[in-house]
Amino acid sequence: MSDIETTIKRSKVPAKPKRSPAKPTDAALAPVITIDGPSGSGKGTIASAVAEHLAYNYLDSGALYRVMALASLNREIAADDVDSLVELVMIAPVTFKRSACGGSDVLLEGEIVTSELRREEVGLRASQIATIAPFRTALLDRQLRWRRPPGLVADGRDMGTVVFPDAPLKIYLTASAEIRAQRRHKQLIEKGIEANIVGLLADINERDDRDYNREIAPLVAAADAITIDSSTQTIEEVVTKVLDFAGNRL
Ligand code: DC
Repeated sequence: MSDIETTIKRSKVPAKPKRSPAKPTDAALAPVITIDGPSGSGKGTIASAVAEHLAYNYLDSGALYRVMALASLNREIAADDVDSLVELVMIAPVTFKRSACGGSDVLLEGEIVTSELRREEVGLRASQIATIAPFRTALLDRQLRWRRPPGLVADGRDMGTVVFPDAPLKIYLTASAEIRAQRRHKQLIEKGIEANIVGLLADINERDDRDYNREIAPLVAAADAITIDSSTQTIEEVVTKVLDFAGNRL
C-alpha cells in the first residue's frame, strides 16, 4: 500500500458540473469489506490483518474521529461547538502515513500522534463529537476517498450501514464488555501503564451507551452483516473466518 496522504484542506476550486448519467469509476467498483463493532471488540486488529492478507487499503475510521477529537482538545474547542468542529474537519492538517514497522501512523500538524490517539480522554471526546450530525457528514467524504483498487477494508461503527452500504461483505464483530475491559487492561499493563479494570469497564459501558443510543448512525449491525462474537476466539481464528467469507463473496 502506498503512503496515503489525506491532508485536509478547504477546497477553493469551484464544483465541476455534474455529468449524467454517472459512469462508475474504478474507485466506486473497488470491493469493500466493512468491519463494525464496539470499542475493544478487536475490529482494528482483525481489519488490518485482513487488509494485509488481501493487499487491500485499510481505513481505521475510529482514528479519523480520534484525531479530530485530539485536534479539538488541542485547540480548546468545546465538545458542543458544532460550527468549530465542522470547520476543524476542513482545516486540520491530518495525514495518514505508512509507518516504519508496517502499520500506519497518524500525523496532526506534521507530528506523529498515533499513540496519543489511544488516550482515554481522546477516545471519550471522540465518542462525544461523533454524536454530532453535521460533524459526521463533514467526515463522510474523507472516508469515501479511501475506496480505491484493489479494495478496501474499513472498520468503525457505521461502515456497513452508512458509509459503504453497498459493501459485498459486512462483518459485525462483538465481544462482551467484561472481555473487552480485560483486553484493554492487559494491553495497558503490558505497556507499563497502570490501569484499573473497574474503571476501564465503566468507560467501556459509558462509550457503548453513547455509541449504541445516539440518534445519528448508532452502532448497529447492518441487516446483511455477518455477526462474529470474538469473546472466546483468537485473532487468527477470526481473521481466518473473515478471509473465508471474503473468498466466497468477493
Ligand atoms: O473505534 P474507536 O474506539 O477508535 O472510535 C473512537 C470513537 O469514534 C467511538 O467512540 C465512536 C466514534 N466512531 C464513530 O462514531 N464512527 C466510526 N465509524 C468510528 C468511530
